[in-house]
Amino acid sequence: MQRTDNDVTIRLADYRPTAFAASQVEMIFRLFADRTEVETTTTLERRAGTAPDEALRLSGDEIEPARVAVDGETLGPDRYAADENGLTISGLPTAGPFRLTIETVLRPEANTKLMGLYSSNGIWCTQCEAEGFRRITYFLDRPDVLATYRVRIEADRAVVPVLLSNGNLTETGDLGSGRHFAVWDDPFPKPSYLFALVAGDLDLLEDRFTTASGREVALGIYTEKGKAGGAAYAMDALKRSMRWDERRFGREYDLDVFNIVAISDFNMGAMENKGLNVFNHKYVLLDPETATDGDYQGVETVIAHEYFHNWTGNRITCRDWFQLCLKEGLTVYRDQEFSADERSAPVKRIASVRGLKAHQFPEDQGPLQHPVRPREYREISNFYTSTVYDKGAELVRMIETILGADQFRAGMDLYFERHDGEAATVEEFVRCFEEAGGADLSQFARWYNQAGTPVLEVKEAFDHDAGRLTLSFAQSLARGSAGTGTEPFHIPVRFGLVGPNGQDIEASPVSGAAIEGDVIHLRKAEETVVFGGLAEKPFISILRDFSAPVTLKDEQSAADRLALARLDPNPFNRWRALSDLVGQALVDATAAARRGEAAAMEPEVADALIASAGDISLDPAFRAQMLALPSEADIARLIGVDVDPVAIHAARNGVVEAVGQRAGRRFDDLHREFRSRADAYSPDAASAGRRALANALLEYRVAATGEAETVAAQYAEAGNMTDRLAALGILAHRLPEAAETSAALADFYARFEDDALVVDKWFAIQATIPREDALDGVRTLARHPKFRLANPNRARALVGAFASGNQISFNRADGAGYWFVAEMIHSLDGLNPQISARIATAFRSWRCFETNRRAQARAALEELAARPGLSTDLKDIVERSLA
Ligand code: ARG
Ligand code: ZN
Repeated sequence: MQRTDNDVTIRLADYRPTAFAASQVEMIFRLFADRTEVETTTTLERRAGTAPDEALRLSGDEIEPARVAVDGETLGPDRYAADENGLTISGLPTAGPFRLTIETVLRPEANTKLMGLYSSNGIWCTQCEAEGFRRITYFLDRPDVLATYRVRIEADRAVVPVLLSNGNLTETGDLGSGRHFAVWDDPFPKPSYLFALVAGDLDLLEDRFTTASGREVALGIYTEKGKAGGAAYAMDALKRSMRWDERRFGREYDLDVFNIVAISDFNMGAMENKGLNVFNHKYVLLDPETATDGDYQGVETVIAHEYFHNWTGNRITCRDWFQLCLKEGLTVYRDQEFSADERSAPVKRIASVRGLKAHQFPEDQGPLQHPVRPREYREISNFYTSTVYDKGAELVRMIETILGADQFRAGMDLYFERHDGEAATVEEFVRCFEEAGGADLSQFARWYNQAGTPVLEVKEAFDHDAGRLTLSFAQSLARGSAGTGTEPFHIPVRFGLVGPNGQDIEASPVSGAAIEGDVIHLRKAEETVVFGGLAEKPFISILRDFSAPVTLKDEQSAADRLALARLDPNPFNRWRALSDLVGQALVDATAAARRGEAAAMEPEVADALIASAGDISLDPAFRAQMLALPSEADIARLIGVDVDPVAIHAARNGVVEAVGQRAGRRFDDLHREFRSRADAYSPDAASAGRRALANALLEYRVAATGEAETVAAQYAEAGNMTDRLAALGILAHRLPEAAETSAALADFYARFEDDALVVDKWFAIQATIPREDALDGVRTLARHPKFRLANPNRARALVGAFASGNQISFNRADGAGYWFVAEMIHSLDGLNPQISARIATAFRSWRCFETNRRAQARAALEELAARPGLSTDLKDIVERSLA
């Protein structure tokens, strides 16, 4: 069927249940080399209240009906009509259940969108969320239609020995002439987006898990041939996730098997299909030689995330896609808590907040802004965003802050008990916390519906004679591109008043906004809190642990911030105090660079940074966070308007160099202390923290001296990928012209050219070389024999990394970066619209730049928007970016 763009806006307000209910789905997949035949029989029933002559409307995308039958009788063409969006069947039974059979024939080899059934390195695999099932068969392809599935797969045994689907394996057998079959039964009713099928010649890593109540679960991780050994850490992370969800949330696994498959062509990170999670192999396969500490952490997080979906997403799913944060925000919150418990909680929180500010804040403050629970969309795939995921997680965290740990857990328990087996809404979720916690969350619920980052201003006044401290708060929300409301939020502000000895002072609130424990509950546009009985002015530690996703504006003096960076008992706020000072210094340095002056940093700030590196009371991972300056994109966001990326780059480089020079021997000594010894690699958090600190110090050192020798030696001698890649990154990004750099890049390729995940790193490191002419290199790499636009990881490694990670070359003054990316996106759009649309979001901050770049970006976007035949996905992003 010819595909046409269907430019329809879907609205939350238009939600209606389906006219027919589905209860059971039976599928037969016959896999052949050149085609896959699919026979789907669904038990349906007209709902009470549906008119007896109402037709059944099913969704379909790029498929054709080979046969349609009702209760075994093939229908004539007069009874159904197919169009580019689906199938309409009339004359169906007016009452009682009936069985609808639909046959389709698929060509997985030709499916470059990687949605529905496709083929990846000879493996048949599916991706159905959000609307991929309709590319397999005509169906009520929406999350509120829950049914049990029985799936029979038939294939050639020699070519396709492994046949997998959701649920438990109930039957296998031989069909003669070299063919065999397997039947999988999933007893838990689920929506079609959780359907999965995987088949091929796969390797298997096996293990077992006994649940708290004694259920035996067979665990399996399937990989391409010869790669199962790389799944050992993923398996370990899976077992830890299963145990953690039992302990922390009382959630046990519910099937006899839990399978994971690693796939090399995958649009997203991973997918939580019931009992059969499918993963981008990047989030399964690890080896110290080829994977960094960051990769280990990524695997742990994504394995946990998908596993946790079994309860938050699968057992309780979403009524409609507007409720996506109900499963994604909640599950991100759960995986963040898991990582915090498994590693260092403050370091995890700092990393999460850094990520939120780097990804969600720009989204929330630009043309792609939308509420955590959107009210309309043209293409749902474009709403798997940082706002839904990461801000969605922040909202769950705020509920926990408001209620406290015990009542939060009681609310979660009620949610699981009340909505198990259902497709729920955000309102139902919030109601569970209101009931279990005895709280009124009606004002809090605005967080789901109003887009934008609120600004929270705080002013402090201390009356010495009265011993009183007055904190005045003002919250405001600008009306942004989403055009949603701007009513005041319920903002939980965790705080502490810190004495000169670094201990929190017990101060009694005298009047003002409600305070419970260490949380101030702000509910009005303007509010004050007065504390009494204070002999001297304490240091004010506000918004501890980033208790709400706001832009905080306070008037603290540099001296107070420096004191808090040393003294605050809340580790997160210690980091924030320093980070605020450093951020301001970088903004000032950028202004200086634009005036042609050298970058400098206040000596007190530089000294605080240097001191934190050597503070033995802090663990190395935390110290590495203190040393990690805001990125060039972060600085651009802090500046906000009329941004000149070249000045930012010069300023940031200059500051790193100046700090490195000021630290001198101190950083050299620390580097010697922490750099990796020859001992065996261990991915644990403490070891990773030491490597992170050593490599952060090395970068300052190289910036200060301009010498390639030490870092080239680290590159050559590294016993693990973390140290090798850190060295390569420093060479390529700090000393791009050095002979050592080109030698190391060539060596890296020669060593790892057969490992796709490492070759991705090689592409990405070159795509992000911070030079305006990096574009020339990227153009050359786009013609490299290993560059494959059709592989999402590879496209992201080159084009995505360049567009979102190379501030000065993507945002070149002559616009060449924009035009190149627009061209690549356009080529990609013909293959895989989800990936082209995702990479196009790199344009979202184009209005922040100075006039010339702004004009170039607009021209490139407008030219792209005018091209004929753009996918709905890409068109939606480009048009919203321009609006
Ligand atoms: N539910 C998956 C996860 O976050 C993501 C799937 C997204 N799929 C998509 N087509 N956008 O775990
Ligand atoms: Zn998820």
